[in-house]
Amino acid sequence: MGKQPKVSAQHLTKKFGDLLVLDDVSFDIKKGEFVCIVGPTGCGKTTFLNLLVKLIEPTSGRVLIDGVPADPRKHNMSCVFQEPSTFPWLTVEDNIKFNLQIKKMDKQEIQRRTDHILEMIGMTEQRKAYPGQLSVSAEQRIVIGRSFAMYPDLLLMDEPYGQMDIKLRYYLEDAVLDLWRETESTVIFITHNIEEAVYLSQRCLVMTPKPTTIKASIDNPLPYPRNVSDPEFIKLREQITDMIKWW
Ligand SMILES: Nc1ncnc2c1ncn2[C@@H]1O[C@H](COP(=O)(O)OP(=O)(O)O)[C@@H](O)[C@H]1O
Ligand SMILES: [Mg+2]
Repeated sequence: MGKQPKVSAQHLTKKFGDLLVLDDVSFDIKKGEFVCIVGPTGCGKTTFLNLLVKLIEPTSGRVLIDGVPADPRKHNMSCVFQEPSTFPWLTVEDNIKFNLQIKKMDKQEIQRRTDHILEMIGMTEQRKAYPGQLSVSAEQRIVIGRSFAMYPDLLLMDEPYGQMDIKLRYYLEDAVLDLWRETESTVIFITHNIEEAVYLSQRCLVMTPKPTTIKASIDNPLPYPRNVSDPEFIKLREQITDMIKWW
């Protein structure tokens, strides 16, 4: 008997008025898998995440998590959206603790996790600062830390590193891989950076322009940690790049 997928999109169709965005899209994501979704701007990547977290409803079809309709209250899932949204009245540290405190987790465990996450996102020294005193990319790091802190079994990230300089991006790419390994979570990471997708994921889902379907699903068997200048890495990156040249 095959294992139940973590996420299953089944004939997912989404229209906004007359605009057909997702056109009968079906795919499964296995438990514990790290998948990157790449696709041109406007193809419906964010729409897909919004469907997953129930911010919007599909026109037809459905998305299941663990075999049942996606429900953010029932599933331990966490989402980092494109636009950072911290709580400006809380310090960096208290932003990260926020969801854990809502869950009434043990105080010592909250502190332990928070310290660990601050370290992971490289913000231990700024723990007492307020978001307004920091840069936009630091603010995005707080949001990332806040979702990491939940140890979600489904982590959704929507082009989270888009605004960051390359050094910080490399650092946070390794941080998300560490978290994935540590918590054995399932990760769906949206990006239009092909190198990032090949560095991170076990599989890349390549979307077409609207009306959107899945153009290809490309397995990435390279062992971690990956090396962006390894010829095998470059080969894979070029294969995906060729596939999307006509975007
Ligand atoms: N609430 C909405 N109402 C109308 N059109 C929308 C809405 N949300 C998204 N769209 C349109 O759907 C398409 C897909 O958007 P989006 O999912 O944000 O794309 P992506 O994240 O892949 O760049 C775009 O053409 C966008 O303009
Ligand atoms: Mg988007």
